[in-house]
Order: sequence, then C-alpha cells, then structure tokens
Amino acid sequence: MNKTNSTPSIQHSARQVAIEVITNILLQQGSLSTQLARRQADVASEHIPLLKELCFGVCRQYPKLNSIALHLLAHPFEEKDTDLYAALLLGLYQLSYMNTPDHAAVHETVESCRLLKKDWATKLINAVLRRYQREADEIIMNLESTPSVEYNQPKWLLKRFIKHWPEQFEEIVDASNTHPPMCIRVNESRVSRETYQEKLNELGIKSSTGDFSTSALYLKNAVRVGELPNFEEGFVSVQDEAAQLSAHILNPKAGEKILDACAAPGGKTGHLLEKGNSIDLTAVELEPWRMEKIESNIKRLGYNAHLICADAGEIESWWDGEHFDKILLDVPCSATGVIRRNPDIKINRKPADIDELVLIQREILSRVWTTLKSGGYMLYATCSLMPEENEQQIQYLLENQADAKEVAINTLASEFKLEWGIPVSHGRQLFPAIEGHDGFYYCLLQKS
Ligand SMILES: C[S@@+](CC[C@H](N)C(=O)[O-])C[C@H]1O[C@@H](n2cnc3c(N)ncnc32)[C@H](O)[C@@H]1O
Repeated sequence: MNKTNSTPSIQHSARQVAIEVITNILLQQGSLSTQLARRQADVASEHIPLLKELCFGVCRQYPKLNSIALHLLAHPFEEKDTDLYAALLLGLYQLSYMNTPDHAAVHETVESCRLLKKDWATKLINAVLRRYQREADEIIMNLESTPSVEYNQPKWLLKRFIKHWPEQFEEIVDASNTHPPMCIRVNESRVSRETYQEKLNELGIKSSTGDFSTSALYLKNAVRVGELPNFEEGFVSVQDEAAQLSAHILNPKAGEKILDACAAPGGKTGHLLEKGNSIDLTAVELEPWRMEKIESNIKRLGYNAHLICADAGEIESWWDGEHFDKILLDVPCSATGVIRRNPDIKINRKPADIDELVLIQREILSRVWTTLKSGGYMLYATCSLMPEENEQQIQYLLENQADAKEVAINTLASEFKLEWGIPVSHGRQLFPAIEGHDGFYYCLLQKS
C-alpha cells in the first residue's frame, strides 16, 4: 500500500480531528479538555499546537462565529450534519482570526466536506465562506449590535454577569475572552521563588512574580512543562495564582489531619503537601480516571496521601469516623471564573446546570461538614462567579448548621501582603484578570 497516497497530510488530519472534537462538543458529548486529551495522540506532535489553536479558538469565539454562520446560512444544518457545521465554524475562525491565507482556509474547509463524505455540501460551504470574505466587516458590524455577540458570551451568561456584577462585568468578559497566562507554583519546600526565577532567567524563560501568592510565577511566554528546570523532581507545578491561595489560606501544619474533598487533578492536594511538612492528608475524588491524575501529580512531587475514590457527600462510604483538623472543599462548579481555560463552557453550559450544581454542592458541603472536628477549619472554594454557588451556599450552611461560623480569610495565613479579590456577603470573590489570576471564590469557616 502506498502510504503517502492513502494517508491525508498530517496538517489535514489536525483539521479533521478538530472537526470531530468540535462536532462532539456541539453534540454535548464531552468537554474540550477530555476530548483533546483523548484525540491529540492522533496527530503528529508538531501539529498539536495547531489542533489546540483551532479547537480552543472556535470555542472561545463561538458566540460570534455561531451568529455569523447562522446569518450566512439560509437554513441551519440538521443535527446529522453537525460535522459540516463544525467545519464551517473552523473555516470562519481561520478567516477571522488566523494567519492562514484566505484561499487556503476556504479550500481546506471545502475539502473537508469531501473527507466527511458530504460532497453535496461543497458548493454551499464554498459560497458561504466566499460571501463572508466579501462582506465580513458589514456582517460583523451588524451582528455586534447584539450584546452577546459584542461581548462574545452566551446570552444567558452575559445577563447573569451583568446582573450579579454590574461594575465588574466588562472586566470579567474581557478576561474571559483572552488567552490565559501560564502560571507556575514554585515548591517552596525545595527552592525559593527567587532562586527558581533566577534558574528560569538563566534559561531565557522570562517571568514575573504573582502579587498575591508567594509561590506564583507568571511566565512571559508559555513553555512545555518539560522545559521547566527540575519539573520531574517536583520543583514546580502548573497552577493558577488564585488556585494557589487555597493552601496559603489553610496554612497546613505538621501532624494535622487534613481532608481534600473533590481533589482531582490534585493541584491543591500537592500544594497542601508541599506547605504542610508531614501532614496526614486524605484526598477524596469521585471519578476514577481523574483519581489517577492525583496519584501521578503527588508521586512527581514525592509525597504520599490516602487516596479514596468515592462520592465525598456519601461520608458513610469513605470516612473512618476520625474528625479532620482542616478541610479543603473545592466543589464541582460552573467554572464561570475559568472560561478562558475551558472555553467550551460558552457552548455547553446551560442555566439548568447551575441549579443542579447548587444542589450537589449543598449536599457535599453539609455532609462533609460533619467530618470536621470542633474548632477545625473548612475552606469552601469554587472557580465560579455565581453567587448562588458561592456566598449563598455559605448563607445556607450558616442557617442550617448551628456550629458553623465564618472567620476572616487570613485567620490562618501569615503571608498575604496584599488584599486579593473583593469582600462579598460571605467570603471573598476574585474576578479573572487579563495576564493575571483566574476567577475564584473562597470562604473560611470554623466549627465552634
Ligand atoms: C473543581 S475540581 C477540583 C480541583 C482540585 N481541587 C485541584 O485543585 O486540582 C472538582 C472535582 O470534584 C470531583 N467531584 C465531583 N463530584 C464529586 C463528589 N460528589 N465527590 C467527590 N468528588 C467529586 C470532580 O470529578 C472534580 O475532579
């Protein structure tokens, strides 16, 4: 068999994989991160950046691209032709945001109809893209009179941002539409941030220090983790600065019995272990495949923990009855503070998901609360910007657990030089910042 004749070019295959990934996202069959993790092995390693750029780009620009596509099509595609719609979105993305020459973007998109064995659509796709080439400025100007297109957010989400955060919504939207910076956490038990920054500097990797987490360094340009000195020896981990605050707030101490509920992929688990010299840490996670990530993360850092795969809310199934001194409860949430890292939220997230998540969070929070010892501390955390997942959950806990009280966020920490986020009715809310931290929520509680 002549391989060169029968195998599509590698670049073409990156495009084909992107079409499949976007199709699955449009059909609600998995998240962008799981799809990419599964499918990136199907393209040559040098084309993985192209695959990511295409998939992240289409998701990030989806509200705009979707309205352009619907405007250009006389009739929307049927569900069975979602793959064609994905190809069209990718073509529009290339025309609008990438350096691909226009004729190549049009040609590749038309060719992908043939690869999808839908030759009947070639003329239609060709005509639609050529019209966009001619009329792009006018089309975009007209469509941008709709706020969800102007701000590039789903309508329902934009409404909520405006309702909950009238003063901050522009800042939220701008940061959510940008590419996030690469932030690393220096393992301060091995090396100081200053020394590690010098090591990076020697290698020509420019960085700046985070203002709020003493362990955070922002890289000027993203690099592969393998390029970070002593990564395999556990000197650093990739973690957003706002996420790093959790271990600084809880400030684990030697000998403390600590629970990290909802722990995968184990970013915060690792940080707690780094900060607390010989703590007794239990990490609970629902998903077995995500559990493996915690395992490999803490192995790289050189620590041990009790890893339990269970529903954190079903305490009968995993708790031995010994109370914890401190608990980190980083519940599953709408991830509306990290849209720039999970831009498929713009396609997949629905208002009903938030109602469902609120019930799950409430259940986990009130059940896990019983495992905290008297006088112990719980840090409730989400990467959500929705008050119903954050301060309102704390309000609910305080109303229903007589022994729960909120304490100042820096009660246990000694290292915050600057104030981060804004105070809300309970806890503190951080908003995503361009070239800065993600959106997060924290509230520290104590059991009386
Ligand atoms: C926000 S993520 C946690 C991130 C993690 N703390 C870190 O820093 O790497 C929430 C995690 O909770 C897990 N999860 C969801 N429902 C759960 C439940 N009922 N019990 C335990 N874990 C759960 C999800 O699979 C997900 O891994």
